[in-house]
Amino acid sequence: MEQYELDALKRLTTRPAREYRTIGVVPLTPVLGAEVSGVDLTQELSAEQLAEVKAAFLDHHVLVLRDQDISPEDHKRFAAHFGELRPVNPPPVDGDPYVLEIVTTPESANVAGNGWHADGTADAEPSLGSMLHILRPPEGGSGGDTLFANMHLAYELLSPALRGLLDTLTAVHDGLLAFRGHAVPEGYEVPKSEHPLVVRHPETGRKLLYVNPAYTARIPQLSEDESRALLDVLFRMTAQRPQLHCRVRWAPGTLVFWDNRCVQHHATYDYHPLTRYGRRVALNGGPLKGC
Ligand code: SIN
Repeated sequence: MEQYELDALKRLTTRPAREYRTIGVVPLTPVLGAEVSGVDLTQELSAEQLAEVKAAFLDHHVLVLRDQDISPEDHKRFAAHFGELRPVNPPPVDGDPYVLEIVTTPESANVAGNGWHADGTADAEPSLGSMLHILRPPEGGSGGDTLFANMHLAYELLSPALRGLLDTLTAVHDGLLAFRGHAVPEGYEVPKSEHPLVVRHPETGRKLLYVNPAYTARIPQLSEDESRALLDVLFRMTAQRPQLHCRVRWAPGTLVFWDNRCVQHHATYDYHPLTRYGRRVALNGGPLKGC
């Protein structure tokens, strides 16, 4: 590793551990994710529990809460503590407009989210975060894990020279890309937006790399060839550095809350022809600011 990479990892991993009084927090890796215990989402959380969950969310970016036997109402009530609920787009034909059902059947040729992305980055105001509650993972616990990548660290592990260039650029995110030639569902208004390529986290102020292969189409300040080459380098960085990643293995009742601003995720479809079922509630975010 280069010295700047070692320095970035050292800064991140030598932070003093936060003390919690009302919840348990056990990191998944030194750089991303934590299992949170002592929380029952069928009940209203105390103000202190909520403040500690929020602090853990900003520190670890991906929170895993096990054994949550919750209804969609409990799910939405917990989510609403962190922001405004984000309507599902396109709206479900029937069912709750804020609850996206995540369904894999033996007939599924692919699953939603099977590739690195963050939710809603083509929107002018991308999602703050998502909460996925898996009720039925693949039978026998066989596969269907979700991978996450820390995009703060993805930025910090780049060379200072490249970071300096990226700080000055923007990128266009196009909702059409995610369909990869498949028909766009009726009623879906395809979003397209330009965001800074390096964003400051709205709550912590920490910089992060804000491009993903599902939605990011072009860096408008560069030629088409340069843009393609640079985006490919950045996408590879995210996908091919396990150092940035954590992995969540689902069990019935696991709820995971991730920060769409600074984390990408990848649903793994390695369990065909088994089934998987869950519900996702997402939160609205605000406009993103650069350096
Ligand atoms: C998603 O992309 O939100 C789905 C994640 C998953 O099914 O694990």
